[in-house]
Parts: sequence; C-alpha cells; structure tokens
Amino acid sequence: MRIDVYTIFPGIFQSPLQEGLLGKAIRKGLVEVRVHDIRDYAPGKHRQVDDEPFGGGPGMVLKPEPVFEAVTRTLGYRLEELERLKSEVSVIMLTPRGERLTQEKVAELASRPHLALICGRYEGVDERVLEHLCTEAISIGDYVLSGGEFAALVIIEAVTRLVPGVVGNLESLREESFSGGLLEYPQYTRPAEYLGWRVPEVLLSGNHQEVERWRRRMALEWTRRMRPELLKEGGREET
Ligand code: 6GU
Repeated sequence: MRIDVYTIFPGIFQSPLQEGLLGKAIRKGLVEVRVHDIRDYAPGKHRQVDDEPFGGGPGMVLKPEPVFEAVTRTLGYRLEELERLKSEVSVIMLTPRGERLTQEKVAELASRPHLALICGRYEGVDERVLEHLCTEAISIGDYVLSGGEFAALVIIEAVTRLVPGVVGNLESLREESFSGGLLEYPQYTRPAEYLGWRVPEVLLSGNHQEVERWRRRMALEWTRRMRPELLKEGGREET
C-alpha cells in the first residue's frame, strides 16, 4: 500500500512514522508513506500557500495552485489528467466537513492500493481542490483541529493495522470484536493485588468458560454505559 501526504507542516509526521507498529510496517516495506511539503510547490519568491477569503471573514484559505501542483507533480500526472489520477488514486481531503471516519471506512480504505491525503487547514481550503482534485472528504470526529495533520496520522495508523502482515492473527481477532459492535472487556495483569485492589477472582480461577462469560457480560455492560447506540441496529451506524 502506498500513501502520499500533502501538508504545510511536514515535521509533524517525522516521529509518528518511525515509532511502534507503524514504523515497523514502513521499515518492512508493507506500507510506503511519503510526506510532501505543499510550500515546495508554491510559486514566487514568497512561496505563499494561503490568502484571504473572497467575500471577507476571519482566517486564511489554502490556495489551490500549490495543492494541485504538489499532488499532480509528485504522482506523475499533468493538470489535464485529473480524471485519470482520481481513477487510480484515492485523493482524500481531511476536513471537519467530511464524512465521519468509522472502522468500516478504514477497512474500505485499506483495500485501496494508493491513498493521497491532503491536510486542510481549519479556516479552509479553496473549494476547487475538493471539487476537482479529491475523490472524497473525511473527518475523524465532531471536534475542531487546526489542521488535518493529526487526522491523516489517525487514518495512516488505522489503515496500516489492516494491511496483511502488519499485525498478527490474535490482534486481528480482537479487532473483529470491535467491528462486531461491542467495546472491549477490561484486562488485568500481575500483580493480582495492588495497593489493596484485587483482580476479579474469576480471572484467576482457571475456568475458561466462566472467564468468557464474565468478559462478554463486562463488554455488554461497558457498551451499554459508554456507547448505548452501538447496541441498537446490530452496531451499525444509524442514518
Ligand atoms: Cl480531518 N480536520 C480538522 N481540521 N479538524 C477535524 C478533522 C479534520 N476531523 C475532526 N476535526
């Protein structure tokens, strides 16, 4: 899988792409991530990437030219070939105006061979980028980030987990249990008693059937308390 990222803050991506499971997947060559600085494609001595919004208002808007130039030039297309580009690469705008990210959407993205993630600024990106360069727009939730950089990292991390060979079988089974619509049951490890707090006795009992029943009960209880909407309609999103 190949992922190209377009941002005005490439430094944000440095350590997240080197650490943990993600860093390992990249070093193994299972995922190739390339981060591009949009400013490198801005014309003129000042390399200006944003400008005031037409019609007035607060904040600055990301200009279209540097974004179109960055994406087409790094992926090897001409500006006259946008339709071909979009048929071969999923070009995704990260914006709070986008479709909300779910595990189902993550799985769909993981099945595509090539993603291009464009990190918008919260104040805005010239709409012609969304209209003519992007194939879709994604938000990671109902809260405000100043830019799409952390959202892009969330997508890269979630998608990479689903690339074959990145996580072992045991991990992917656990993942299915979330896709199955319940939150995880609580986990404990040694010591069996810490500061007077004991681990639930059933987990120390060695009775696997009792352990499974307890875990199922706790998952249901926790889901009912924290995310009751997941228990309706078989865990599927309501529309
Ligand atoms: Cl993708 N971008 C920004 N700026 N804010 C967000 C977001 C994205 N998703 C949730 N909030």
